[in-house]
Amino acid sequence: MILFKRISDLQTHLQKLRQENKTIGFAPTMGALHEGHLSLIKASQEEVDITICSIFVNPTQFNDSKDFEKYPITIDNDIYLLEKQRCDILFLPSVNEIYPNGKELKQLYDLGFIESILEGAFRPGHFQGVCQVVDRLLEIVQPDLLFMGQKDYQQIMVVKKMIELKNHKAKVIVVPIFREPSGLASSSRNMRLTNDEKEKATAIYQSLIFIKENISRLFFVEIKQQVAEMLMNSEFQKIDYIEICNAETLEPLEKYDKTIKLVALIAAFIGEVRLIDNMIL
Ligand code: PAF
Repeated sequence: MILFKRISDLQTHLQKLRQENKTIGFAPTMGALHEGHLSLIKASQEEVDITICSIFVNPTQFNDSKDFEKYPITIDNDIYLLEKQRCDILFLPSVNEIYPNGKELKQLYDLGFIESILEGAFRPGHFQGVCQVVDRLLEIVQPDLLFMGQKDYQQIMVVKKMIELKNHKAKVIVVPIFREPSGLASSSRNMRLTNDEKEKATAIYQSLIFIKENISRLFFVEIKQQVAEMLMNSEFQKIDYIEICNAETLEPLEKYDKTIKLVALIAAFIGEVRLIDNMIL
């Protein structure tokens, strides 16, 4: 694996690859890599000639500075995992390299409704920061395919919208959620959970299964009430949302309609750790 810290060095290398007609897949990450990230790398390796992973803990997408400070940094292990997975290129830029003119966003992305709900409502500014960094990374890497995990369901919709707004050529490939045998969705935040919390956190997955099994049988309000109880009984302290939405638009729905593809989404805190998960129903 070749590691690049400078944009100019990366671009010189990519130019050569493009002249050789190599196709390029890109998986942007914030490090603290786990099986979920590696599944993005594997998916890319199946589709393209060259796979690039970036590790950049983007300061502009953290609406809570404590969350940013506590974000796990495990760079040596990340490099080890990427080498083992035979990733071709790691891009590891500094904040200055990504934001040479400062971190301030010059113009907001017009993301519309999608930014106002769920994660957007609970983490104001988060998606503007995500768009800012992914836009910049796409400008630098110019991949053919962009690999993103389904776990951040709303993020994928937001990034697709940004790609449309900015006319990037990259096509987004959504990689299914990687789950531990317990059902817990792989996440860098899981590193901050104790073993006991990890076990209790599987209540999110069980809740999603409960929603899937009861979606056509119970009123949504009843389902959400029961799920809130399930989570609280598993020692989740705070629930940001339990929503059942139109899977294409993310519009929250109140009753079952078999003609609409649905997705259930949950965000809740166990200890100080905020977890999100979702399931297509
Ligand atoms: O999902 C993430 O890890 C981040 O939001 C991303 C897409 C790498 C942008 O910083």
